[in-house]
Amino acid sequence: MKIVAVVGARPNFMKIAPLFWELPNYPGIEAVLVHTGQHYDRAMSQLFFEELRIPRPDVDLGVGSASHAVQTAEVMKRFEPVLLEQRPDAVVVVGDVNSTIACALTSVKLDIPVAHVEAGLRSFDRTMPEEINRILTDSISQWLFVTEPSGVENLKREGVPGERIHFVGNVMIDTLLACRARSERATILEDLGLGTQPYGVLTLHRPANVDDPEVFDSLWSAVERLQRELPIVFPVHPRTRKTLEQSPRGNLPNVRLTDPLGYLDFLKLVAHSRLVLTDSGGLQEETTVLGVPCLTLRNNTERPVTVTQGTNTLVGLETHRIVAAGLKTLSEPASRRRTPDLWDGRASSRILDVLSGTNSQAPADATAAQRTPVLAGA
Ligand code: UD1
Repeated sequence: MKIVAVVGARPNFMKIAPLFWELPNYPGIEAVLVHTGQHYDRAMSQLFFEELRIPRPDVDLGVGSASHAVQTAEVMKRFEPVLLEQRPDAVVVVGDVNSTIACALTSVKLDIPVAHVEAGLRSFDRTMPEEINRILTDSISQWLFVTEPSGVENLKREGVPGERIHFVGNVMIDTLLACRARSERATILEDLGLGTQPYGVLTLHRPANVDDPEVFDSLWSAVERLQRELPIVFPVHPRTRKTLEQSPRGNLPNVRLTDPLGYLDFLKLVAHSRLVLTDSGGLQEETTVLGVPCLTLRNNTERPVTVTQGTNTLVGLETHRIVAAGLKTLSEPASRRRTPDLWDGRASSRILDVLSGTNSQAPADATAAQRTPVLAGA
């Protein structure tokens, strides 16, 4: 079987990596890796290939930044000839970025079946570009690989036939577990002079939060209050930088701004933090596994298991609610919650079992490989 696997933006890299680490155990699968180039800065792309030991992409479409329509169309235009040349049996897409839907749509138009890794997640907020990408990608995919029970329910409610839905666990957590020990060797805490004092971590990049100066100000004003309690490290996403520079509040004395961090530095930074404030999807899952309290600066989440079983609390966008939740979290001992089912480091082997036909009948856990996951050079 020949597959074309697609990556495009930063959160895709940690999802594709464990599939490539596992591939040597599946000699019947030949894989070609395509990078759309949606993210292209070294710190947003190349660094992840190096740290996660992802093979160099066979094809780089070099699409870059543009409006949603232009970016999506450009990926489709450049991906189609690759598929015509490679003629794969399936295309594997991950996550919910523009590259995900663009490549899925290009494939099905050529009658090539699509496997969607991280299917079924729904925020029920159609103003999020990712929600549209998720719904559309799922609706045209042949294999839907799901991370949490809500995803199975969502897909069934949308009428997806049960035999297409495979509850396999979370590939991003495969990567986290495989890299956790190696991340301890990162020097980020010393580099930032954090010593042993408690600190928080902040990430913000959702258009709804950072493109509107008023919303951003409400969030930044909460950060202003919380940084009086503990230092906060803020790796700034390129989208956020402009808004931050124009913010009337300016820089805050106890907030450490950094450029985007690599995977290993960021994993260590989060693992040792007292509190995370974020609007990221993936970080809600990573903090759950790391047992670090996470306050999500959104009104909804497509990952409800991180709230019901993990360490995640939705705190919305209002300053007073964020501050109250932050102060409460800091006043309580951090309580480790339950790790969601199948977030055990074996999602990628379950996916490859299904694709290779070893386990055509998933749901997943029954025949998942029992071998130890292949570590990324731990
Ligand atoms: C994209 C994804 C989002 C994901 C996020 C992770 C979509 C619709 N959005 O959002 O789901 O959570 O990636 O980071 O696919 N830029 C750079 N260097 C880069 C990449 C981007 O400077 O390497 C800047 C450009 O100015 C660009 C802006 O960031 O216009 C936004 O990039 P884009 O890929 O369009 O969306 P993200 O906000 O990164």
